[in-house]
Amino acid sequence: MKLINRPRRLRKNTAIRNLIRETALNVNDFIYPLFVVEGEGIKKEIESLSNNYHFSIDRLKNEINEITDLGIQAVMLFGLPDKKDACGSEAYNDDGIVQRAIREIKKINKDLLVATDICMCQYTDHGHCGIIKEDYVDNDETLKYLAQIALSHVKAGADMVAPSDMMDGRIAAIRNILDENGYTEIAVMAYSAKYASAFYGPFRAAANSVPGFGDRKTYQMDPANSDEALREVELDIEEGADIVMVKPALSYLDVIRRIKDNYNMPLAAYNVSGEYAMIKAAAKLGLIDEKRIVLEKLLSMKRAGADIIITYHAKDAAKWLKEE
Ligand code: PBG
Repeated sequence: MKLINRPRRLRKNTAIRNLIRETALNVNDFIYPLFVVEGEGIKKEIESLSNNYHFSIDRLKNEINEITDLGIQAVMLFGLPDKKDACGSEAYNDDGIVQRAIREIKKINKDLLVATDICMCQYTDHGHCGIIKEDYVDNDETLKYLAQIALSHVKAGADMVAPSDMMDGRIAAIRNILDENGYTEIAVMAYSAKYASAFYGPFRAAANSVPGFGDRKTYQMDPANSDEALREVELDIEEGADIVMVKPALSYLDVIRRIKDNYNMPLAAYNVSGEYAMIKAAAKLGLIDEKRIVLEKLLSMKRAGADIIITYHAKDAAKWLKEE
């Protein structure tokens, strides 16, 4: 055979494969989600998200130390309040669960980057991500609340806020209130292309945030669309987003790539609860090699164009990367 081009030349041994490798996973890419609950002495495994836990604030110390010892430098906080009402008032309570958790984490390790999810669904008694008027989430009314929630988290010491509600105009509303209060240096990571996805099921079980009626399709995006994702990203950038996000990740790698090709912005991928749970379940049945599958999956998100990966696998992946 007279073959001039032989791609296998570059796969011959480890050294040459290492030389030409285009992407690599790094522990610095990870944000680890953390769930905090009211009460004392609680470290309880989350049934729908095995190997992830609900922590009361007094039990955070070991976890934070473990996370930082693994080299993970960022967490994303989710709070489970013990009171819910129509306007999610615990979400912007300066002494709410997330606000106290931020202060505690900063006491344990001031260098750990603390990002917070800005949304109302864990805090409203109807389980929707905003204020309800006539069975519909009222966009502009909700913006006022989201801004207050973000301000309250930042006052408590959050380094970055991540609005996940999908209201129109929330990035501008949050940027404005932060700037008016002198928090010009606090970054906003926008859940820009957040789809109305079935992959959030295990999270909603973990966060007790299942909508009491209807679904989230009037605010989260239709999984069929990707041009629309570019429009959402563009709006968020115009409104002042510092980082944009695609969520979920695995079924939306094409969207990640399109955004990376079209905007020179830091891009996050949220490797969501359903994606995590599927792998955990298959691994438990002995059907897959969990370590290899997880590392391959996270690498595929980076290859698609993600700079940051929010993942429940972060601690395992950090351990495995150390072993490699
Ligand atoms: C809050 C929020 C959700 C997730 C992150 N923030 C749930 C939802 O939109 O219903 C899902 C995360 C996951 O599935 O891992 N709105």
